Formats: sequence, structure tokens, C-alpha cells
Amino acid sequence: PEPLKVALAGLGTVGAGVIRLIDANSDLIARRAGRPIEIVAVSARDRTKDRGVDITRFDWVDDMTQLAHHAKADVVVELIGGSDGPALALARATLAAGKGLVTANKAMIAHHGLELAIAAEKTDTPMKFEAAVAGGVPVIKGLREGAAANQIDRVYGILNGTCNFILSKMEAEGRDFAEILAEAQAAGFAEADPSFDIDGVDAAHKLSILASIAFGTQPAFGDVAIGGIRHLLAADIAEAAALGYRVRLLGIADLGPNGLFQRVHPHLVPLAHPLAHVIGPTNAVVAEGNFVGRLLFQGAGAGDGPTASAVVADLIDIARTEFGPPYAMPATSLANEPAASTGDRRSR
Ligand code: HSE
Repeated sequence: PEPLKVALAGLGTVGAGVIRLIDANSDLIARRAGRPIEIVAVSARDRTKDRGVDITRFDWVDDMTQLAHHAKADVVVELIGGSDGPALALARATLAAGKGLVTANKAMIAHHGLELAIAAEKTDTPMKFEAAVAGGVPVIKGLREGAAANQIDRVYGILNGTCNFILSKMEAEGRDFAEILAEAQAAGFAEADPSFDIDGVDAAHKLSILASIAFGTQPAFGDVAIGGIRHLLAADIAEAAALGYRVRLLGIADLGPNGLFQRVHPHLVPLAHPLAHVIGPTNAVVAEGNFVGRLLFQGAGAGDGPTASAVVADLIDIARTEFGPPYAMPATSLANEPAASTGDRRSR
């Protein structure tokens, strides 16, 4: 069958990860999607930088926003970042051109999600952003599909890996904030502007998207009350520990008497709660549904592998249903998985 053809904008850590993932898992992706997924064109600010992946086999486009008009592409993957600028220009042009859009850009969805959703609806094209919230953790799909039958009463969690890394280390090592921040930056999961992490803005971007999915509203970033962790001392954390709590930066959205209430700030989490045991650069989201009860989604919220995993999952969704005949997942595709012989993990 005809491949789903992808144009990729932005070749940073995640962009290179997407190329590596599609190269490594192309057979299983084609089986599960019902057809191959093929990158046809790429664009980034710098053509010559060494990214550890061969990009010479793809068409190169100098102007990232022009990928929206690439003749071969069905879908554009936007990994440029930033709420506005070239990312937003590309997203608008992509949807206007009737191509699908996959993005990991939480700031853009938090600020312009409604506008983009309306544009996608107008041209009847898919727009997906699983990677924008909690990186590799499939929480958007989990809420939209897995918990679709529930009324969600509350959604909350640890939405910034950098802060969780810093808070975990402050507690474990009794050290102060600044030197641990430098380590988080060196580890590569902090934002380009780390104030977005430590002042709660990144978590607020993600919370506003999560809340929009959970409560069926538009993302309303401007309504999130935001506080960060830069003023916390090792002594605060030690005191909390002495009382049986851990300090976590949480994003919380729930329906109160005045409607949707969204806030991000450090919370005291009792040791009996699972979020107290989420350590290091991890994300974890709790959703409470009126029939399913409490759900916990946890995993890597950043990094090339996890984020690429979410981006390509969105591409597989699109390959199954859009831009071609209805390639529903063929019944034979599961039977065709080379199962037990590769390690027999299923029988355990
Ligand atoms: N800076 C973010 C974090 C990366 O630390 O969680 C993923 O959005």
C-alpha cells in the first residue's frame, strides 16, 4: 500500500529521534499502521549540523514554513518549538493546505490550540499532539480513548521532569536548588529557557492542554495560576519530609463552584500518595473518572526516544485512517507479529 508521507520540521533531539525510531522500527510500524510511514522531506535552521542520522536521503527545504507546501507530503511534523514564530506559521499553513499536523509543541497548543483545531476542522485534516503533554506517556490518548466514557472530575500530576529531578535531588542529597538545576540542564531535559521549567510555565502549558482534553474546553493557558520552585530551600524540603510529605510541583485542574480551576505550584504530597514516589525526571498524571476511578499514567516526559515514540504513535494513528483508502488495522497484522520467538515476553 501507499506509504504515509511525512515532512519533518525541526531536527533537534526529538527530530533526530523520530528519524531513528522510524528507521529502527519500520517493519512493525508498517504492519501496525497498515502501510509504511516514510519521511520525504526535512527542514531545520542548520542544514550541516551533525545529528547522528543521515538526512541526505530526504528532500531538504530551506524555509521551514514551506514544508506545508511540499508536494509529496501528506503530513507535517512540527518540532521547531516556541508558541509563535515559524512553528505557528508552519502549523497554520499546513492545516490551510489540508495536510495533517503532528506537533510536540506544548506552548503553541496551549496558546493557539483552539485556533488550530478550528482550522483543522475547516479543512477536515487531523491535528495531533500526544508528545506535547508528558512526552512519551500516552496520556492524551489515554484520556481521549481509554477514559472516553467517563466524566473526569479532576486531572493532576507531575508535568515537568526538570523540576521533579531537582526536587528529588534536593530531598535525597540535601543540596540547594541552583547547582542541581545546572545538572538538569546538562542532562538535556530542561527547556532552552530553564525559567519555563522552574517557574512552572512548562507545566502550565501541559496542564492547560490536559484540562482541555479532560473537560472538553479550549486550552486556556491565561487562566492557570502559576508558581514555581526557585524559592524553595533544601530546609523546606527537609521539614516537609519530617512531617511525612514530599514536595512536588503539581499541575491540578478540577471543576469547582466557579468552573474550571487550574493551578501549578509546589504541593505537599503525603507519602501515601503515589505521586510522592515519582522520583527523578519523570512525569506522572492522575485522572479521576466517575466510572473508571483513579488512573495513573507515568513515564518519561522528555528525551528523544520517549518524545519520538509519541510523535510516531500519532503518525500511526493518521496512517490508519487518513490520506488514503481506509487502511484499518488489518486483522492479520497481529497474527503477523513475530511473537514468542523474539523473547516470549507474552507468556510471562
Ligand atoms: N523541560 C521539559 C521537562 C521537557 O523538564 O519536563 C519536556 O516538555
